[in-house]
Amino acid sequence: MKPCTEVMADHRTVRAYDREASIPEAHVETMLRMAQRASTDATAQLYSIVRIRDLELRQRIADLAGGQRHVLDAQEFFVFLVDFYRVSSLLTFRGEEPGHYPHLAFLFGAVDASLAAQNLALAAESMGYGVAFIGGIQNHPRELCDLLGLPPGVLPLVGLCVGVPRHRPPLRPRLPLDAVVHVDRYHPPDRTHLAAMFEAMAPISSSGDWLDVLRRYFARGGVMERREEAFRRVWEEQLKDGSTGRA
Ligand SMILES: Cc1cc2nc3c(=O)[nH]c(=O)nc-3n(C[C@H](O)[C@H](O)[C@H](O)COP(=O)(O)O)c2cc1C
Repeated sequence: MKPCTEVMADHRTVRAYDREASIPEAHVETMLRMAQRASTDATAQLYSIVRIRDLELRQRIADLAGGQRHVLDAQEFFVFLVDFYRVSSLLTFRGEEPGHYPHLAFLFGAVDASLAAQNLALAAESMGYGVAFIGGIQNHPRELCDLLGLPPGVLPLVGLCVGVPRHRPPLRPRLPLDAVVHVDRYHPPDRTHLAAMFEAMAPISSSGDWLDVLRRYFARGGVMERREEAFRRVWEEQLKDGSTGRA
């Protein structure tokens, strides 16, 4: 088995899977157990994973995520959830009243779920499989909550495809290390640094300009603004108004 750093250095998102191939059940179980080994706030394990096995359901989720073909083609698809319903149920079961802390619920649950998801992804990659995170599940979060039957206190965070790669896409660039690592205090980038960041990330876009990607997602009228309203509503329904998952 490759050293962990080699697996990490070789990471690339895979969006084309061999539909004829399969993943042995024992490998899936290993991935899920490795997801569970992630660090977790106060031992609470504030996340859940839904393994999507029903193909019609997978098709619905692929459609909700903007018709992403790889969601269907991957051998496995998991939805990672922020989950405060379970901890609230545990408290209630033992006669305690669950607290109400919807902002922190989202923050800590999202950290726990992300760590578990990344653990699963690394385990899969170390076994030779390809992975793709799917943030597109945030396009229609209410519909997804209903499809998955999520109770109050539970919120979908991100999807993850795992499958046998049909090809290995090239490595995608990252920002210069000093753009993301600060020593002792935060140092806002100056114009030279900003220009260097665009240069480093240029290969990411077919146009050769990273701005095309940033604009599409993060500029006024972009994908994130369009997702924001649906997220705010579902967050209020699942975490804020619906309590932090009081059972
Ligand atoms: C939170 C998150 C959401 C993502 N959503 C999607 C997605 O919906 N569809 C997709 O094909 N890739 C998605 N990706 C993969 C990114 O596009 C990919 O990680 C990025 O372009 C860097 O490429 P690399 O992973 O090959 O290094 C997502 C990644 C993350 C971490």
